[in-house]
Amino acid sequence: MLVSVILAAGKGTRMRSDLPKVLHPLLGVPILEHVLDTVEALGPQLKVVVVGYKHTDVEESFPGRDIRWSLQADQLGTAHAANCGVEAAAAEISANPDAQVLVVNGDLPLLRVETLKALSAIHREADAAVTILTCEKADPTGYGRIIRDAQGRVRDIVEENDATEAEKRLREINVGAYVFRGGAFLGFYARIGRDNAQGELYLTDVVVKAAQAGTRVSSFKVADEAEVAQVNSRIELARVTDILRTRLLDEYMRSGVTIYDPRTTYIEKGVRIGRDTHILPFTMIEHGVEIGSGCEIGPFTHLRPGTRLDDGASIGNFVEIKNSKVGHDSKVRHLSYVGDGLIGQKVNIGAGTIFANYDGKVKSTTVVEDEAFVGSGTVLVAPVTVGKGAITGAGSVVLKNRNVPAGGVAVGVPAQLLKEGKGSSNSRS
Ligand code: UD1
Ligand code: CA
Repeated sequence: MLVSVILAAGKGTRMRSDLPKVLHPLLGVPILEHVLDTVEALGPQLKVVVVGYKHTDVEESFPGRDIRWSLQADQLGTAHAANCGVEAAAAEISANPDAQVLVVNGDLPLLRVETLKALSAIHREADAAVTILTCEKADPTGYGRIIRDAQGRVRDIVEENDATEAEKRLREINVGAYVFRGGAFLGFYARIGRDNAQGELYLTDVVVKAAQAGTRVSSFKVADEAEVAQVNSRIELARVTDILRTRLLDEYMRSGVTIYDPRTTYIEKGVRIGRDTHILPFTMIEHGVEIGSGCEIGPFTHLRPGTRLDDGASIGNFVEIKNSKVGHDSKVRHLSYVGDGLIGQKVNIGAGTIFANYDGKVKSTTVVEDEAFVGSGTVLVAPVTVGKGAITGAGSVVLKNRNVPAGGVAVGVPAQLLKEGKGSSNSRS
């Protein structure tokens, strides 16, 4: 049995923010969501998240997720937080004393599931009471340092603020992910104190007490430094964003997407992109966007949440699309805003077209049916429909509910019907 405990109660003082650290967005979703997704992929039977600072805000950010929230009312340190998590799982752990309890800091969004799997496997093979994740870092600043004895066993873990100059030179660091044998945590937790630079209950001290008691403390060293980057400050958040962004772009390229310039391409978490789609430079694609295959996006395109592009769609320079569907082989190539739009197949949206979706009170939908041709500089005031095969003239302003019937032609400001077309139900109201 596996119980996971994510520590997310801290304020994140070093962020200098009113928003709890774990809610800061990282590629479109909260930092904590990255950690949760990784931990969830391990398949724990029980997922506990320890919250404290602005805990209702944190809890409400994850509606409908299978999480047992544990409240750490006062943030007395990482060991105290872990204890809150273990208490929330007390019934499960006492029924399964050999359960693995995985404790992970909530500010480690780059950890890979493979690494946590290896940590758990090493713990099992070593039959250890505690197994910790470590890493050799070129620059260990800001992390707890691992001190080993002559036999290579973990003897101590010293926080940056408590370390001597010699200890600060040690490059093996504590990552902030631990596996405890179910029953083991509580006994050692009872023995730690707050005699340290921060006056806090350190989770690292629980590990040290276990080692001092002669129980088996094993460790797994993760090779990739990038995985262990933590988010304590906004500078670290930007670095972590860059690492994760590159990692996701690599995955898209491996799956058959061409990305002309990864340095200027920003794609958030949870975006689907089909094969043989080309992404040109300076493109931003936000969380949840879905893009078919054989599309062309960019340069300078901004696709916002709720956007779905069917196969073969082509979106170009200085185009922003929000909460809209663009059909098969349709084109929005230049200088346009498409908001709350439903665009059919083989539609051409001319340069400088605006979907005026917001009247200051409500947002409404604009429908552009198959094979319609929207002339350059058209303003479509929602709610409105441009029927199948219809045409709007350059610079026309199509007022709300003044639908252009299928095959019709509308021109001018406000747009007048120049040709009735063949639509019946879509006639002007
Ligand atoms: C911790 C480790 C350090 C390690 C580093 C790397 C300790 C004492 N130190 O330091 O050895 O190198 O992480 O990841 O554990 N939290 C709570 N309640 C609290 C305090 C913290 O839930 O009372 C949560 C925070 O929200 C955060 C996590 O625990 O998600 C880690 O806390 P943080 O303050 O970032 O620990 P570090 O100082 O980075
Ligand atoms: Ca941290």
